[in-house]
Amino acid sequence: MVLTVHGEGGYQVHIDRGLLHRAGPLLAPIARRWAVITDDTVAPLYGDALCGSLAAAGLAAQVFTVPAGEGSKTLARYETLLRALAEAGFTRSDGVIALGGGVIGDLAGFVAATCLRGLPLVMAPTTLLAQADSAVGGKVGLDAPWGKNQIGAVYRPRLVLADTAALDTLPARQFSCGMAEVIKYGMACDGEILTMLEKELPPEVWIPRCLTAKIALVEQDEMDRGPRHLLNFGHTFGHAYEALGGYATYTHGEAVAAGMAAMLRWQQGRGEDVSQSLARLLPLLEKYHLPAAIPCDTKALAGLLRRDKKGSGDGIRIVTLSAPGHGEMRRVSWDELMEGLA
Ligand SMILES: NC(=O)c1ccc[n+]([C@@H]2O[C@H](COP(=O)([O-])OP(=O)(O)OC[C@H]3O[C@@H](n4cnc5c(N)ncnc54)[C@H](O)[C@@H]3O)[C@@H](O)[C@H]2O)c1
Ligand SMILES: [Zn+2]
Repeated sequence: MVLTVHGEGGYQVHIDRGLLHRAGPLLAPIARRWAVITDDTVAPLYGDALCGSLAAAGLAAQVFTVPAGEGSKTLARYETLLRALAEAGFTRSDGVIALGGGVIGDLAGFVAATCLRGLPLVMAPTTLLAQADSAVGGKVGLDAPWGKNQIGAVYRPRLVLADTAALDTLPARQFSCGMAEVIKYGMACDGEILTMLEKELPPEVWIPRCLTAKIALVEQDEMDRGPRHLLNFGHTFGHAYEALGGYATYTHGEAVAAGMAAMLRWQQGRGEDVSQSLARLLPLLEKYHLPAAIPCDTKALAGLLRRDKKGSGDGIRIVTLSAPGHGEMRRVSWDELMEGLA
């Protein structure tokens, strides 16, 4: 399956099993020499497949490995990579491949965006979260000492290669974490995704559906000023739950899962009929071992919600559902949000 992101600097998104083994001919028109930036879990799993395919197409590849995990999305790691690329003699006509999950996509993407004012970037996502969501849309960046994702850019990749066979080795908790975002696409953008999950269709069927929804929003709103906020369904409460757990107790996906359910319960508390949405959401969360609630102190939650970047003045922007597959953006007052929590 091949999708296209339109507009200036448009690019294609390939989704299929075995793509890493067939990458060479797809990359050859973009650059002849590649820096493969990956992590120490993914490198031994998929490094050889990708580099072998590049070599077979007559392309040069050099692998740069960082430790797996969010801890690598730092300025220090970024500088180390820039220096390594410079020392290896990479030039503006050479490319960067981000081989890994969302951490590598963000980190290697930011390296590509800023090294010599921009090297061609190819995303080769290997987690479900990255394949169904983060590899498309162009957001790249780092965590800062003062907050997550506080340094970044919007930089379009030249190509995205999502090899769904890579999902076979993904640990179950990582798979579930990605499923939370997939379910989010179903709940907020496209109810057909929910039906596909209920029918237990394979990822090759619903990943393109998630990306199609994301591409439609990105094409309208690449800089994330309006419609793209729909993708924040479940994230208002989700971010607060993540912070409450010190970013260690719950994965992002678990927090978002509970955040989606919490938002529907908030709507229910206001007398809105969300029974259909809950009836679709809750069984899917259970099926993918995701929490439908995270116990927490309302006061602490309120404090964290107040810090949410979408809050401004006394209002806060939230995403609610009018029906399964239909998200809507609303601005509510701080008091309205809090009343629903009580
Ligand atoms: N740019 C965006 O639009 C965007 C959107 C959402 C999230 N993100 C970012 O994505 C990051 C989270 O991404 P993630 O959940 O993919 O985390 P991750 O990149 O840390 O990957 C999770 C773990 O899985 C391992 N792994 C990756 N692929 C594997 C495979 N095929 N088999 C076995 N293990 C594998 C990794 O080594 C890592 O230990 C966060 O930093 C978040 O901020 C970015
Ligand atoms: Zn998310």
